[in-house]
Amino acid sequence: MKFEFRNPTHLVFGAGTLSKLGEVASAHGKKALLVTGSGSVRRNGTLDRALSSLHTAGVATAECSGVEPNPRLSTVERGAAIARSEGCDVIVALGGGSTMDAAKVMAAAVFYEGDLWQMMAGQENRILPTKALPVVTVPTLAATGSEMNGGAVITNKKTTVKSFVSAPCLYPKDAIIDPELTASVPPDQTAFGICDLITHVTESYFNGVDGTPLQDRFAEGVMLTAMEWGPKAIADGSDIEARTQVQWASVVALNGWVQAGTLSPYPVHMIEHTLSAHHDIAHGAGLAIVNPAWMRFAAGTRPSRFAQFAHRIFGITLKTPEDPDAAAEGIDRFEAFLRSTGCPTRLSETGIGDRLLERYASDTVLVAHDSEGRLPGRPPISKSDIVDILRSAL
Ligand code: NZQ
Ligand code: ZN
Repeated sequence: MKFEFRNPTHLVFGAGTLSKLGEVASAHGKKALLVTGSGSVRRNGTLDRALSSLHTAGVATAECSGVEPNPRLSTVERGAAIARSEGCDVIVALGGGSTMDAAKVMAAAVFYEGDLWQMMAGQENRILPTKALPVVTVPTLAATGSEMNGGAVITNKKTTVKSFVSAPCLYPKDAIIDPELTASVPPDQTAFGICDLITHVTESYFNGVDGTPLQDRFAEGVMLTAMEWGPKAIADGSDIEARTQVQWASVVALNGWVQAGTLSPYPVHMIEHTLSAHHDIAHGAGLAIVNPAWMRFAAGTRPSRFAQFAHRIFGITLKTPEDPDAAAEGIDRFEAFLRSTGCPTRLSETGIGDRLLERYASDTVLVAHDSEGRLPGRPPISKSDIVDILRSAL
C-alpha cells in the first residue's frame, strides 16, 4: 500500500447540532448563500431554524432554492450568479446530496473562468477548479457522503451526461451533521440512501487493489452497520438512534477513509449515473439495480473476493476460499436485502426498458475509460459488457 490521505472538513456530528450553524458559518464571513432543494426543508421547519441560527450569529443570507434531484448545470449557474450578485462570503448547503453537490460547484463557479462543464470528468482539456468560496454542508438525508468529501456530481441536460468533479478546493470547510434533520426522509429515500452508502464501500471492496485487509474490515463494518440499523430507520423514521447510526455510516462510507490506498474506480456508479442522467431516477434506486447485476458479472473473475463477502457479511460457510456457490449466494442475499428495504432491483420496476442500452454504455465510457476504451474496474468492462450487465437487470 502506498497513498496520501487528507480530509480537511471539520465535522460537527450529533442530534441537535443544527443550532451551531450560525456560529460555524460566521467564521467564514458576514453573508451566506443558503442553497436548498425542492422544498422539504421549508415544509419541515429546518429552513427556518437554519435561518434563525445564521441571523442570530450575525450572518445575513441570500437564498438559492429549487435544486432538483440529480442537479443540473443550469441550476449551478443560477446559484453562482446569485452568490456573485449578492456578494456572498460563504455557501451553506442545506439538503440532500443534490443540494450539497450543486452548492459545492456554485462555490467554485464564482471564481471559474469559462464553461463550467470543462471541470467535469470526461472532458478533453479538462480544467479542475482551484478556488472556491467556503462551503458549510448541512445534510438532511443520509446517503452520498458529499457533506465530507471533495466531489460533486452534476447533470448536463443538453447532452444527457451526468459527470463528476473532484478537487481539493471542493471539500466543505465544515459539515454540520444533525441526524434529527433526517427524521422526515420518507422510507423509500431512506432505503435508497442506505443502498448508496453500502455501494460506496462495495465499490472499493470489489474494485480496489489487493492487500488492503484493514480497508476490507472498514468496508465490512460500514456494510454490517448499515444493514443492522438501516431497516430500523426505514421502519420508524423518528428512531433517532437508527438515524444516527445510518448517517454516521454514510459519512464514513465516502469521506475517503475506507477507500484510502485502494485506488478504486467506481464502475457501478458510472453505469448508474448514466441511468439517472437519462431517466432522472433516484441515484440509490439505480444502484440497487446495477450493483447486484454488476456483482454477478464480476464474481467469475474474482471468486475468492465474492466468497469473502458472502462469508463475512452473511455468515455463509465456504467449502473452499473460492467457493463459487457461496459467492453466488452472497450476491443473492445482498439483492434480497435491498429488496427487503423496498429498493427496486430490476430496471423494469423504474420503467426503464432495453431501447437505449447501447447509448447508456457509450455515455458511461465517455465519462470514465481506460486506454482501451473500457470502463475501469475489476475487471475492466467493455461497452458490450455494460449492455450485458444492464440486460441481465431488465
Ligand atoms: O429537494 P427536497 O425537497 O429537499 O427533497 C429531497 C429529494 O426529493 C428529499 N429530501 C432530502 N432531505 C429530506 C428530503 N425529504 C424529506 N425530508 C428530508 N429531510 O429527498 C429527495 C432526494 O434528494 P437528493 O439530494 O437528490 O438525494 P441524495 O442525497 O441521494 O443525492 C443524490 C445525488 O448525489 C449524487 C447522485 O448522483 C445524485 O445526483 N452523488 C453525489 C456523491 C458525492 N458528491 O460524493 C456521491 C454519490 O455516489 C452520488 O453520485
Ligand atoms: Zn453513490
